Amino acid sequence: MLLTPPRGSGTSPLMAKPVTTFSCNECGAITSKWSGRCEACGAWNSISEDVPLSAGPKGNSLGALRGKRVALSDLSDAETPPPRTASGMDELDRVLGGGLVPASAILVGGDPGIGKSTLLLQAAAAFAGKGLKTFYISGEEASAQVRMRAARLGLQDASVKLGADTSLRNILTTLDEQRPDLVIIDSIQTMWSDTVDSAPGSVSQVRAACHELTTFAKTRGASVVLVGHVTKEGQIAGPRVVEHMVDTVLYFEGERGHQFRILRAVKNRFGPADEIGVFEMTGGGLAQVANPSALFLSERGTPSPGSVVFAGIEGTRPVLVEVQALVAPTPHSQARRSVVGWDGSRLAMILAVLESRCGIPFAGMDVYLNVAGGMKISEPAADLAVAAALLSAREDVALPADTVVFGEISLSGALRPVGQTENRLKEAQKLGFSSAIAPEGGKPGSSEGLKLTRMADLTSFVGEIFGAG
Ligand code: TYD
Ligand code: MG
Repeated sequence: MLLTPPRGSGTSPLMAKPVTTFSCNECGAITSKWSGRCEACGAWNSISEDVPLSAGPKGNSLGALRGKRVALSDLSDAETPPPRTASGMDELDRVLGGGLVPASAILVGGDPGIGKSTLLLQAAAAFAGKGLKTFYISGEEASAQVRMRAARLGLQDASVKLGADTSLRNILTTLDEQRPDLVIIDSIQTMWSDTVDSAPGSVSQVRAACHELTTFAKTRGASVVLVGHVTKEGQIAGPRVVEHMVDTVLYFEGERGHQFRILRAVKNRFGPADEIGVFEMTGGGLAQVANPSALFLSERGTPSPGSVVFAGIEGTRPVLVEVQALVAPTPHSQARRSVVGWDGSRLAMILAVLESRCGIPFAGMDVYLNVAGGMKISEPAADLAVAAALLSAREDVALPADTVVFGEISLSGALRPVGQTENRLKEAQKLGFSSAIAPEGGKPGSSEGLKLTRMADLTSFVGEIFGAG
């Protein structure tokens, strides 16, 4: 085949010809050709054509068109920490890293209906109460609907300005005159920029809208909060495609049937990631939960086989949660493994270690694992609590009710020490627990008033707690 350079694409044959790219609305993967299914994430019907933001000037960056000089500075140059505004909602402020930073962009992602609009309307009112000039722009609901929600939340007197539009040009024109401190955009998927020629909600539109809004935040010194729906269908782009463009990414999670909601920082340029804030959805909006451990354990009944309390750490805060397991002979040829609130492959690993290091098989048994209260745990420190719950369910023996468990399990069956032992123990003691099981080694946590049993490996744990296993 003869390759001829495309006509009119510049003088140098080395210059890249403009290529059309396609990207997945679900995971953002870029491909060179359209297909019905994304090869990266497997989503159907999620590939759409990318439209470039704008055609740049001709020639490469060092050509005749010289750019402006970039201001350079030394690493040692003094930097004052960003001034922050706290909302007074402690659960929100902690997740933000202490409060709202001016000229920053924050993405709040979550499933539809989980309570993002409710949270942000409450946050808007709280920040407005602290003197920030606050705007709430809804592309999903009419102002009247937002006002009705505000009335339900008892916030009708908050000095928040409402707007309902989806045209970014109109919104930015309005905001530019108003000089806002805080702007909430609900949601990024409904916004529509006329610089890009594709449908609202597509990857190109969501990216363009995010780009324009973050630029507004940086140049005008406002904090901009973008709401993003997590989507399953892939027809509209999920928040993942813009995560890299914003300073802070928060996810609002929870189980539909539960009233608990967790606001989790997964990225924060101005504070620690992994921090969580806990809320409870009530008839009058979201209520803060200052002591999540008490809440997560409040549903706990009398100690029963398969139930173990895990002393975990979420960000800087200790949180006690109940891990529940059910093990039963399977009526099917293939045993079921079902997990809620934990990692499925981690469960498979624990089962394999129990089988090959301790000789306790789970073959032919259905295994169900659940973290109570709609909480999601990602810490490896939960390994030992999970193993304890599985064993307790399998042997039909309840662990003492006043015991908490934590520790990481290695493939060899050894128990590895985990961080913040002292904080875990303190929280357990505060909630009335009187003994703890933890791995050997690591920093010795002070355990006055708490009986601390340290173990080196899973086999000794099985022997100690469940007899010879
Ligand atoms: P919403 O904030 O609209 O969710 P999102 O913006 O994430 O789509 O909240 C939706 C749910 O919250 C809705 O099912 C009703 C419930 N809700 C309450 O239980 N109490 C309240 O005070 C409010 C405002 C909503
Ligand atoms: Mg909403």
